[in-house]
Amino acid sequence: MKITVIGAGNVGATCAIEIAHKEIANEVVVLDVKKGLAEGKSLDIWQAGPIDMYDSRVIGVTDDYARTANSDIVVITSGVPRKPGMSRDDLISTNAGIVRSVTENCVKYSPNAIILVVANPLDVMTYVAYLTAKIDSKKVFGMAGILDIARYKMFLTEALNISYKEINTIIMGGHGDTMVPLPRYTTVSGIPITELIAKDKLDAIIERTKKGGGEIVQLLGTSAWYAPGAAVSQMVEAVAKDQHRVFPVCAWLQGEYGLKDIYLGVPVVLGKNGIEKIIELKLNNDEKQLVAKSAKAVREVMDVYDKMTV
Ligand code: LAC
Repeated sequence: MKITVIGAGNVGATCAIEIAHKEIANEVVVLDVKKGLAEGKSLDIWQAGPIDMYDSRVIGVTDDYARTANSDIVVITSGVPRKPGMSRDDLISTNAGIVRSVTENCVKYSPNAIILVVANPLDVMTYVAYLTAKIDSKKVFGMAGILDIARYKMFLTEALNISYKEINTIIMGGHGDTMVPLPRYTTVSGIPITELIAKDKLDAIIERTKKGGGEIVQLLGTSAWYAPGAAVSQMVEAVAKDQHRVFPVCAWLQGEYGLKDIYLGVPVVLGKNGIEKIIELKLNNDEKQLVAKSAKAVREVMDVYDKMTV
């Protein structure tokens, strides 16, 4: 198994170390445009192997796509992160150009790779990669939902004083303030969350979850990387080991949930072919409306991209 991570910034480097730790691939190639950055970080990650006991060979390269050839999975983290006061959508013009050229190069050398997008605005950058790659949509998808549910679980864990291990949940919609946490599909060891927490407390947690990325941007002046990197490695592992795990993933919809030709977060089964199946929940009217509103927000930014490219 060979995995390429494009971008050796905070997110890319964290993806690489998380993937190395899980021993998912014998070879992890990290590529960055900045001379020496990927080489230096990869050397450092590789040298942690004898301490943390992993065998993955992590190799850094500067813009040398030939070294990424025949990757099974490509993770695209490149692009600029948010600064305080910016929405993820403000990044579109810069990051669309970067994601397009990165995708072209990756597909040229790894035509059979599964492409996992992490760059923001996530749903639209996944769309850009899909349009550029011209491969089966099952093989092009984005990471956001796992990160969002991880935040949601931790906030619930704190409020309930119950381990996150008992919490099961799903979040739908775009990776932005319109994302749709679903209390009706949130349980603690099978117990509906609504039986364990007051509505106002749950509502506050849902609001904090929706703005979870922004909370970190405010604190750090840039966006998060530890939880995003961990989330990516969980998805990569599900594909590499054909685990058929069920995660919220940014996927290309073709009529599911009444939505067509749009990338949006939905529950899917992840396996060696990428998206093995999109799961359609029987949403109630309120939930449907929230998902439709989120889809509308994503569609508006997709339209901005479409107009940029005509
Ligand atoms: C976040 C960024 C990575 O949610 O989108 O932290």
